[in-house]
Amino acid sequence: MTVKNILETMDYGPAPESAAEAMAWLDSKDRQFGHFIDGTFTAPTQDFTSKNPANGEVLASLSQARQDDVDAAVSAARKAQKSWAKSGHTRAKYLYALARALQKHSRLFAVLETLDNGKPIRESRDIDVPLAQRHFYHHAGFAQLMEDELPDRGALGVCGQIIPWNFPLLMLSWKIAPALAMGNTVVLKPAEYTSLTALLFAEICDQVGLPKGVVNIVTGDGAVGEMITASDVDKLAFTGSTEVGRIIRKATAGSGKALSLELGGKSPYIVFDDADLDSAVEGLVDAIWFNQGQVCCAGSRLLVQEGIADSFYRKLKSRMDGLRIGDPLDKCIDVGAIVDPIQRATIADMVASNDEGETYQTSAPEGCFYPPTLITGLTTSSKLMQEEIFGPVLVSTTFRTPAEAVAMANDTRYGLAATVWTENINLALDIAPQLVAGIVWVNSTNLMDAAAGFGGVRESGFGREGGWEGLSGYTKVKDAPKPAKPVTAFEGKGGLSDPIDRTAKLYIGGKQSRPDGGYSRVVYGPKGDALGEVSLANRKDLRNAVEAAHKAKGWGKTTGHLRAQILYYLAENLAARSAEFADRIKAMTGKQGKDEIESAIQTLFTYAAWADKYDGQVHGVPIRGVALAMKEPVGVIAALCDPRPLAGLVEVMAPAIAMGNRVITLASEAFPLVATDFIQVLETSDVPAGVVNILTGHHADVASHMGAHMDIDAVWSFSDPSHAAAIEAGSAGNIKRTLVAPAPSTPKAMLEAATEVKNIWIPYGE
Ligand code: NAI
Repeated sequence: MTVKNILETMDYGPAPESAAEAMAWLDSKDRQFGHFIDGTFTAPTQDFTSKNPANGEVLASLSQARQDDVDAAVSAARKAQKSWAKSGHTRAKYLYALARALQKHSRLFAVLETLDNGKPIRESRDIDVPLAQRHFYHHAGFAQLMEDELPDRGALGVCGQIIPWNFPLLMLSWKIAPALAMGNTVVLKPAEYTSLTALLFAEICDQVGLPKGVVNIVTGDGAVGEMITASDVDKLAFTGSTEVGRIIRKATAGSGKALSLELGGKSPYIVFDDADLDSAVEGLVDAIWFNQGQVCCAGSRLLVQEGIADSFYRKLKSRMDGLRIGDPLDKCIDVGAIVDPIQRATIADMVASNDEGETYQTSAPEGCFYPPTLITGLTTSSKLMQEEIFGPVLVSTTFRTPAEAVAMANDTRYGLAATVWTENINLALDIAPQLVAGIVWVNSTNLMDAAAGFGGVRESGFGREGGWEGLSGYTKVKDAPKPAKPVTAFEGKGGLSDPIDRTAKLYIGGKQSRPDGGYSRVVYGPKGDALGEVSLANRKDLRNAVEAAHKAKGWGKTTGHLRAQILYYLAENLAARSAEFADRIKAMTGKQGKDEIESAIQTLFTYAAWADKYDGQVHGVPIRGVALAMKEPVGVIAALCDPRPLAGLVEVMAPAIAMGNRVITLASEAFPLVATDFIQVLETSDVPAGVVNILTGHHADVASHMGAHMDIDAVWSFSDPSHAAAIEAGSAGNIKRTLVAPAPSTPKAMLEAATEVKNIWIPYGE
C-alpha cells in the first residue's frame, strides 16, 4: 500500500502490540500454574485451560482448587492476619510497593490481560492497569491514615473474595487493596476464564516480599467459589452476576460473615434535547462498547428525548460504523473479543430472541466477536430493556419529559449507575437525585476512581468499593458494646381485671389499628400479674405497614433540619411523660426504668444532632470534575427491636428517621407495652403518618416475612440472633440490606446502615 492509497482510504493500518514478553512469562512457568498459598505456588494439577478468546489459542493450564487447597489458603490467611493488622505504616509500605511493582510491569500486565480476556490493549493499557495501580497507591494512603482517622475501627480478619472475568486485574485490586489496607488478609478466586493476571500479581506479591499468607490466590470455577463461601472466613466480597450473588447471600445467611455484593446492572443513559449530541454519542462509545459492553455499570439502556431521537440515532449509527472491531492486541482496535464463546452465544441468543423494535448492527470478524448493536423502538417493558445482556448491545427508547425520563430510568430492578446528558445544569442537578442508582455521571460516563465509592442499590447489590465509604466494608467497630441478651416474657395466669378492653393496638400509617388476625396476648409482670394486652401482628399487618411507609416517601425529601426538630420534639414529649414511662418499665421488667428513659432521650438528641450533620463528601477525582458523595436514605427499613422496652425501639427508630427513612418496628417481644404507649408520643410530636409504624407480636412469626418482603429495602434485627438466618436468607429476593445482631449499634454504624452513598460525578473547573 502506498502513502497515496492510505491518504485516499484514511484506513488505519494495524498497530500490533507485541505479545512476546507475556508469552515468554507464560513459557517461564511451563504454561501451567498451581495456586498461590502461604507465599508459595503449589504444584499444578492441570485441570482446565485459559484461552485467548480472540483466536482460541490455549495460553496455559490451570488448577482447580480442592477443599484441601481452600482450607490451606484460609488457614494461611488466618495465621498471617494478626501480625499484618499490627502496623498501618508497614501495610502502607507494602501497598505502595505493590503499586510500584504494578507500574513497573504495567505493559506485561496489560498484554497478559488482553490475551486472556480479549479486551482491546488500548483499554487494558490505559484504563485497567493504571486504575489498578491507582487503587493500590490510594489505599497505601488509607493504611497509613487508619490509626488516626478510623481509631474506632479494626480489621475484620480473613476475607474471601470472588471476582469476575470482565476486569480481572482491576477487580482484584478493588478487592485486595482495601482489605489489606485495613489489616485483613485475603483468599481470592479469579474467574475461571481469566486467572492469569491474578497469578502474575501473586508473583509480584512474592517479589515485594509481602509476608506469607497475606494474599492467597486459588483458581477454579464456581465450585471453588462455593468452598470459599462455606469456609471459615470473616467476610465475603463478591462481584459477578445477581444470580450467584443471591446464592452467596443465602449460603451465608445467619453465619455472621460480613458480605458485600457488586452485581449486575441495566444502567440508563439519558440524553436530553439540549445535550451536546456529539459528546453524548462519544460517551456511548465508552458506555456500551467499552470492554465489549461486558461492564456491570455499562450504559446499556439509552433513553433519548423524542424531539432529537432521529438525529441522535443517525449520528450514533454513523459513529458505530467507524468502530474498529478485531484483534485486541492491535492498538487501533475499539472493540475486542467477547470473553468466551459461551458468553458470545448468550449475547447472540438474547438478541435473536428479540422481535421488537429495529436492530442496527455493524459487522464483526469471524470467531468470538460480536458486532456493536443498537436496538431502537423498544418499550420499557421489553425483555431486552430489562435484562442485562452483558455484551456490545445498546437498547433504546424515547421519552418526552424529564419526569418521564426519570420514571423510565428507574423502571428496573437494578440500580448501579446512570448517565445524564444535558447542557442545562439545573436539569442535571434536578434529575441526578431522582435516579435510583449508586453512581450518576453528568455529561460523562463510566468514570471510576479509587477515591470515589463504586456500588449500587436494589438488585445491583450492596456495599461500596473505593473511597472512605468502601473502607467500612473491610472493618468492624472495635470494642463495640455487646448486643442485648435475648429475654423471654414473664408468664402468668388469667386475664386483666379491668373489664374495659384495653388491648394496645398496632400503629400503622398514623392510625391505631387492630391486628389482621384478631389475636392478642396478655403481658405479665415479673410476679405474674397481668399488665395489659398487646396485638399480635401477622404478615398482613406487616404488608399494610409497608404500604403506609411507602406512602410517606415525602419524608425522605424533608430537610435534615426539620427531621432534627421532630426528633427533639419527640424527646421533649417523652421527657414530659418520663415518670409514667418509668413506672411502666418497672411494672413490666421489675427493674427501675429511669435510666432507660434517660438513655432513650439521649438517643433522640444524638440522632437529632446528626440529622443535619451526617453529610456527604466531595471527592477529588482525577478528572476535570468532582464526585459528590451524597448520603441518601435507604428507603423503607423494617426492624426487630431488642428486648429493652423503650431504648430498643428508639435506637432503631431514631437513626432511621433522622436520615429520611420510614421505619416499621416490631417492638420488644418480651416487654411491648412501652412501645405502644410511645404511639401517643409520636402522635403529639408532628411525625407524619407512615414514617414510624409500630407492630407488636412474636418476632419469629414476622422475621422471615420482613426478610422476604420485596418492598422493604433493609431489615435490622437486634432481637434474638436466631432470627438472622431467616432474615438474611429471605433478603436474597430483592438483595435488601441487612444489619443483624450481634452487629454493633453504635451511632455511626447505625447512620451508615441508614444511608446509601450516591456518587454524582459532575464536570467542575478547568
Ligand atoms: P458469575 O457470577 O457466574 O461468576 C462470577 C464469579 O463467581 C466467578 O469467579 C465464578 O467462578 C464465581 N462463582 C460462580 N458460581 C459461584 C457460586 N455458586 N458460589 C461462589 N462463586 C461462584 O458470572 P459468569 O457466569 O461468569 O457470567 C454470567 C453473567 O453474569 C454475565 O452474563 C453477566 O450478566 C453477569 N456478570 C456480571 C458481572 C458484574 O460485574 N456485575 C461480572 C461478570 C458477569
